[in-house]
Amino acid sequence: MSDVRVAVAGLGYWGPNLARNFSALPGCEVAWLCDASDEALERIGRQHPGARQATDLAEVLADDTVDAVVLATPVPTHADLAVRVLESGKHCFVEKPLATDVADAERAVAAADRAGRLLMVGHLLEYHPGVGLLKEIADSGELGDLHYVYSHRLNLGKLRADENALWSLGAHDVSVLLYLLGEEPSEIEARGESYMRPGVEDVVFCFMRFPSGRAAHMHLSWLDPHKERTLTVVGSKKMATFDDMDIERKLTVYDKGFDETAEGYGEYITRSGDIWSPRIPSREPLRIECEHFLEAIRTGAKPRSDGASGLRVVRVLETAQAALEASRRPAHV
Ligand SMILES: NC(=O)c1ccc[n+]([C@@H]2O[C@H](COP(=O)([O-])OP(=O)(O)OC[C@H]3O[C@@H](n4cnc5c(N)ncnc54)[C@H](O)[C@@H]3O)[C@@H](O)[C@H]2O)c1
Repeated sequence: MSDVRVAVAGLGYWGPNLARNFSALPGCEVAWLCDASDEALERIGRQHPGARQATDLAEVLADDTVDAVVLATPVPTHADLAVRVLESGKHCFVEKPLATDVADAERAVAAADRAGRLLMVGHLLEYHPGVGLLKEIADSGELGDLHYVYSHRLNLGKLRADENALWSLGAHDVSVLLYLLGEEPSEIEARGESYMRPGVEDVVFCFMRFPSGRAAHMHLSWLDPHKERTLTVVGSKKMATFDDMDIERKLTVYDKGFDETAEGYGEYITRSGDIWSPRIPSREPLRIECEHFLEAIRTGAKPRSDGASGLRVVRVLETAQAALEASRRPAHV
């Protein structure tokens, strides 16, 4: 089978990681590197001497031997560039989030349908073996009925101007929530504050309620002394935490909860049983994600984080953004 020829566009902070992973995968060739900046092309080009270089995506799209384009450009460019890639007859991997609003995300999904090409969104955590095992455990019923989920994504991290903490950090947690729970929230409340740049929230607290009655909360911040990336699921039988900062214990299951007393009468006793951590394969999630994209191209299978799932994430983020904006105008006493 011939190699899948990939072009990587956007070689700032994240794009070089995608180029590195695609070029390391068997049966894949990074044929083009594209960035608006000559400096980025020169810097990353040294690591991929066989790849051609372009400052304008049009040059890449004109090459009929390119099968797929990977977009790691700033979020406001995603939808327009993805539509151009798909309309040129190439498959498209676009970094998260798919777009800055639902209308643009729908445009990209429609372009993929029209062109009959793949659209996959880089919702990295859906390819994390620890998240995969957490989903398996939750789906098996071991945790009982899922009651609520909360996540912390905190750091003194990259300060962004064209997205706030909700869109930049929350895109990860929303994709995991939708993946784990298999439903979209019906109610969203969000509050946040901007300290570094006016109008760009550095910290966001977001509460969601789902049609099944489950709830979720996200605490997102790039202005925090702690580096935390945790997600806790509380079920009727057991509880579990995914901690991406922990090297050895990425996933921990707690046999904790309340049991009804033998006598009944609505009395409960606390159960505080075993705590265990299953072994998680230590493969790089980004490598798995890139492999998944290539596999989908080869087999025609629908990627896990396809355009429709990327659109669902954008729908939640757009509603949360509206809630955030509404919360800026509270009624004063
Ligand atoms: N999955 C993850 O964990 C993860 C982590 C970081 C960033 N990201 C995502 O990656 C994307 C890029 O983020 P970043 O931090 O690397 O941004 P960045 O600003 O560091 O890099 C963007 C690059 O795109 C280039 N660019 C801009 N417009 C272009 C165009 N029209 N054609 C070609 N090149 C163009 C810029 O010159 C720049 O080099 C975002 O969607 C972000 O959300 C994902």
